[in-house]
Amino acid sequence: MSGNPRLSQAHLLGIRPLNASDIELIFSTAEQFKEVLNRPIKKVPSLRDITVVNLFFENSTRTRISFELAEKRLSADVINFSASASSVNKGETLIDTVNNILSMKVDMVVMRHPAPGAADLLARKVRATIINAGDGTHEHPTQALLDAFSMRERLGDLRGRKVAIIGDILHSRVALSNILCLQLLGAQVRVCGPPTLIPKWIGALGAEVSYDVRETLRWADVANVLRIQMERQDLRYFPSLREYAMYFGINKPMLDELDRPILIMHPGPINRGVELTSDVVDSGHSIILDQVENGVAIRMAVLYLLAPRDRMNPS
Ligand code: CP
Repeated sequence: MSGNPRLSQAHLLGIRPLNASDIELIFSTAEQFKEVLNRPIKKVPSLRDITVVNLFFENSTRTRISFELAEKRLSADVINFSASASSVNKGETLIDTVNNILSMKVDMVVMRHPAPGAADLLARKVRATIINAGDGTHEHPTQALLDAFSMRERLGDLRGRKVAIIGDILHSRVALSNILCLQLLGAQVRVCGPPTLIPKWIGALGAEVSYDVRETLRWADVANVLRIQMERQDLRYFPSLREYAMYFGINKPMLDELDRPILIMHPGPINRGVELTSDVVDSGHSIILDQVENGVAIRMAVLYLLAPRDRMNPS
């Protein structure tokens, strides 16, 4: 990597604190790392002597593996912490847990936590670089960055492009981060789903709202489809998954009747047959596995741009 580029922020707590230049810098850095990831030797020494802990207080497949792989490709030392096998179960607080880990000379913390604001709290209370890997229903910044990066790879400049975010907006951290990121990049954003799963405050962000999935597919260049988050639903927001799939699920005939191309995205994990049928997931419209691939390069870029400069390998 050349030069000494930095983000405007010391941590990645969400998309909200970032500006458009930060996003451009993350994307241009990720492009260089993506090129590295396609070489036979996929490793660079950039974070040699930097130690990163991955703290996951919630389940994850993609984000956890993607961060770990990104850290290893950058030659960082990596510690994985799983809350279920830790002394958190004996009553230790989040701050005490993290301060104990940091006293072992750890430099950066990647954290997923069920509480909105947990990453922000950590950034104010401990001395380490904090990267939010998803905090409850609040933000999932690296997901939004890899989503927008994947869209741009296919469509070029996103200014004026129409992106629909379809599904469970109410319980989704991906929705808020996507709306903020896409608007910084100049895209038009619309959310679509049952009225009970669209929060009333969404209009204040400048996103359009629709309850008609067929009309939304006709409008959109991209449909980023979100999972129904049953684990966060303490009320019944719709009668049954079968009924949700009937009114808001996307199937192949719905795409076949469109008169222009559309990209289908999903952050995963997918409920096949609920928000998307299998023939949509596996169709030529879908760039879902591109999103996962790009996640590693985006997370390498974020780690690289936020790592403590005085500790980094100069190469
Ligand atoms: N997209 C996403 O956050 O997936 P995981 O929950 O598997 O990390």
